[in-house]
Amino acid sequence: PGFTVEVLPEIDSSNTELMRRFRGSAGAPPRPEPILLVAEQQTAGRGRLGRSWQSRRGDSLTFSLGLPLQPADWSGLSLVAGISVAESLDPGNTGNARIGLKWPNDLWISGPQGDRKLAGILVETASWDNLRYVVIGIGINIRAVALAAPALPAAAAPAPAAIPPGCLQDLFPALDAASTLLRVVPPLVQAMQAFEQFGFAPFQARFAARDVLSGRAVQLSDGTQGTAHGVGENGALLLHTAAGMQEITSSEVSVRPM
Ligand code: BTN
Repeated sequence: PGFTVEVLPEIDSSNTELMRRFRGSAGAPPRPEPILLVAEQQTAGRGRLGRSWQSRRGDSLTFSLGLPLQPADWSGLSLVAGISVAESLDPGNTGNARIGLKWPNDLWISGPQGDRKLAGILVETASWDNLRYVVIGIGINIRAVALAAPALPAAAAPAPAAIPPGCLQDLFPALDAASTLLRVVPPLVQAMQAFEQFGFAPFQARFAARDVLSGRAVQLSDGTQGTAHGVGENGALLLHTAAGMQEITSSEVSVRPM
């Protein structure tokens, strides 16, 4: 089957654009081939939970992969995307991976400045008759960005020192946006096909090998506190709370270490 690649110099958001194209095909079935949309610049990049995703031309890689998918069970899909991207950038050996995963699908790097976010993933789906189409949007910080200090009124309390986001060139100085894209996309398509066939179960141990939350005290955005105990075979976060072990499946919550 064909595979379309398009590079857009500027767009609001590569995810928004793919979802728009999918919906715009009303009447005619959307093309079933995978499509890769690379945005050189996004003016309204979107993150999970309604957040925005900021990136600057040249300093980051922002793209969306759209493809039809018919898994028997959708749970764990977004985790598989994160696993695939982390593994293709940092093949490492189990136990000494330098790119970690923060449930459900953030990529983190650990270093002297602590754990920092390297990449984010936003998965969205659309349907047309029986065809379910998934859009996997990925933003990877490639180069460090010098953050301008915000102008503060003289009387304002000093802001806590911002931890700059992590970037790929901290780990791999030779990787630029183009080589990163080439390295990441083919395994991602394969991972989606494997997920479609076998579900999340074969990926569970691969997530565990990079799970940065495991064993740590965490707090969910709804206030729930507990200790993270890895993920189940459907990709749910296993959280040990005062009320017992809970399975967190909602994509509506965020989690942070305490
Ligand atoms: C997150 O960390 O909350 C997810 C961030 C996802 C950002 C990528 S950049 C390419 C694609 N287009 C978007 O608007 N968002 C995703």
